[in-house]
Amino acid sequence: MKIFVDTAKLDEIKEACSWGIVDGVTTNPSLIKRAVDEVKGRGKGIDMETYVREICKTAGKGRPVSLEVISLTMKEMVEEAELLYRKFNPAAENVVIKIPINTNSDESEEIDYDALKTIKKLSRKGIPINVTLIMTPEQALLAAKAGASYASPFAGRIDDYIRKKLGIEFGKVDYFDFDLIEKIGRQRLDKHLKNSGGEPAASLYLNKETRNSIGFGQDNGIGSGVNLVKSIMKIYRNYEIPTEVIAASIRNTRQIRQMAEAGAHIATIPFPVIRGMLQHPKTVEGIKSFSADVVPEYRELFQS
Ligand code: E4P
Repeated sequence: MKIFVDTAKLDEIKEACSWGIVDGVTTNPSLIKRAVDEVKGRGKGIDMETYVREICKTAGKGRPVSLEVISLTMKEMVEEAELLYRKFNPAAENVVIKIPINTNSDESEEIDYDALKTIKKLSRKGIPINVTLIMTPEQALLAAKAGASYASPFAGRIDDYIRKKLGIEFGKVDYFDFDLIEKIGRQRLDKHLKNSGGEPAASLYLNKETRNSIGFGQDNGIGSGVNLVKSIMKIYRNYEIPTEVIAASIRNTRQIRQMAEAGAHIATIPFPVIRGMLQHPKTVEGIKSFSADVVPEYRELFQS
């Protein structure tokens, strides 16, 4: 699995790239805001053009850097994508343009399909597209069909959504056992079905409690962010779809393990979570005991 660093902070990108484990970078307007706030917080100004060019150069050739458009209509998104690509791709030939799967910001509005048209138009022009804000396998299928090079399912936000629906408050980075939630749902359903023994199948199927038990801890059949990525991987494999899946909106290290098990092509990971991948108390303990056990004879080996 490739690892992208999910940040627009230049110092984090530089540091993570120096470790030799980074295969790309993803940004979005909120991550850019955080980076700008940090620079301003140090009392410095920011020249955005130089800053973004530096991100691209730091990542270097062969490591894609996703830059997101900010408008919501096809005409403007195409113009912005072309501008970003023209301005920043020459630095290291690694720019990928991020387009949301759907730009409607009001659920009651009629969908305008501008995002799909934009993805199609830009990818036909040879501009690599990372389709962002993917929350369902269906959206991922459409993104791929429209020509996306990458699809970014937002695993963490789906986890947040399901946790909120369950009424469970958790810290953003906390591990949450969705397998256990699934078991509880199944148990509730079994108990309910057992208690409604004689009821005809049709009325039992339509029964509110049955429906609630089936949907317990799920977002329309998706039980977690990892589950979402698994489903997309399955669909893409079924049809040998070449679009790469970027598991995005990552919250903790255990989720990364699960993404790798699910076969995600890429995980884009916040800097502190990458650092967390290295940590274990027994590793710290081991380092301490190895250091304490070095005998002078062995140390001499290293003193030429
Ligand atoms: C990366 O492509 C996404 O924009 C990012 O992972 C979103 O993360 P968040 O849900 O923590 O904001």
